[in-house]
Amino acid sequence: MTASLNKEFGKVGVLFGGRSAEREISLMSGAGVLKALQSQGIDAHPFDPAHRSLAELAAEKFDRVFIALHGRYGEDGTLQGALEQLGIPYTGPGVLASAIAMDKAMTKRVWLHNGLPTPDFVMLAADSDWDAIAKRLGLPLIVKPAHEGSTLGLTKVTTVEALPQAYAQAAKFDKAVMAEAFISGMELTCPVLGAGENARALPVVRIVAPDANYDYQNKYFSDETKYLCPSELPPAQEKQIQQLVLESYRTLGCRGWARADVMVNAKDNQPYLLEINTSPGMTSHSLVPMSAATAGMSYEALCVELLRMAALDLQPSPDWKV
Ligand SMILES: Nc1ncnc2c1ncn2[C@@H]1O[C@H](COP(=O)(O)OP(=O)(O)O)[C@@H](O)[C@H]1O
Ligand SMILES: [Mg+2]
Repeated sequence: MTASLNKEFGKVGVLFGGRSAEREISLMSGAGVLKALQSQGIDAHPFDPAHRSLAELAAEKFDRVFIALHGRYGEDGTLQGALEQLGIPYTGPGVLASAIAMDKAMTKRVWLHNGLPTPDFVMLAADSDWDAIAKRLGLPLIVKPAHEGSTLGLTKVTTVEALPQAYAQAAKFDKAVMAEAFISGMELTCPVLGAGENARALPVVRIVAPDANYDYQNKYFSDETKYLCPSELPPAQEKQIQQLVLESYRTLGCRGWARADVMVNAKDNQPYLLEINTSPGMTSHSLVPMSAATAGMSYEALCVELLRMAALDLQPSPDWKV
């Protein structure tokens, strides 16, 4: 079994660390993935793009790579483009899907165009008409940077007067800042594995903050946050969320894997897509491994399946000559 995996995959690079704000998480994700792949007899090697040129991947004849980088330069399509140029198959979505998913506003435009529910939003500028924005989206509302990995710039705004300050705070992290209608209710996240018709949603994870009220600080910095998987949702609702997340994934042209965040409006149970992460965390506490475990898939089996789906967007043309 293990010898055959070694043969199937050849020399494997696990890309982790990197140059984004999420470097620390990536170091943990990558260490876990590397260990898991090696435990299956796969010839896997660590590779930190913050310290080495990607050209070395080709020079050292890596056959495929597992991307365990998060945020910019790892999850945003730029690395995927470089790997396309080098001809080295990689895990997760391709160039276009990765680049769109990194931009929350662009992602929402694609979803809305395809009739998928996501909270109403507007892009902000220093001279925005704050009253008009509060009127359109209602209060409270959320102000956030459009690009992922910038959670620090996110604010829940409860008064019109607080809007310019929230904008200024988000603008410190990103040129593109958006205001989004606030959805009060259950928070869920759900992974998808596979490509096209073969893509399938894994069990939904429900995130329960210590405080019934929305509290960003609590949610990310408290040990009391609970993650329920199985989600304990009624089976029909679990299916509805899985189907929605699967459509959100296919609409963006994802392959390999991703994990979408969803809020369910407490008033009418309507789910809203917030964003999709195309290189989710793989630490021992991360949510995709948790969901996979509920589906009966071990962390090791998950890593092997992701590596097996490594691919390139582009196939060399059959009649190509120099
Ligand atoms: N429109 C919204 N309504 C309610 N809560 C939100 C909204 N947007 C973001 N949040 C909260 O903020 C968290 C982070 O937002 P998200 O859009 O997922 O960005 P990121 O995870 O990249 O920081 C969400 O998990 C959710 O708890
Ligand atoms: Mg999120």
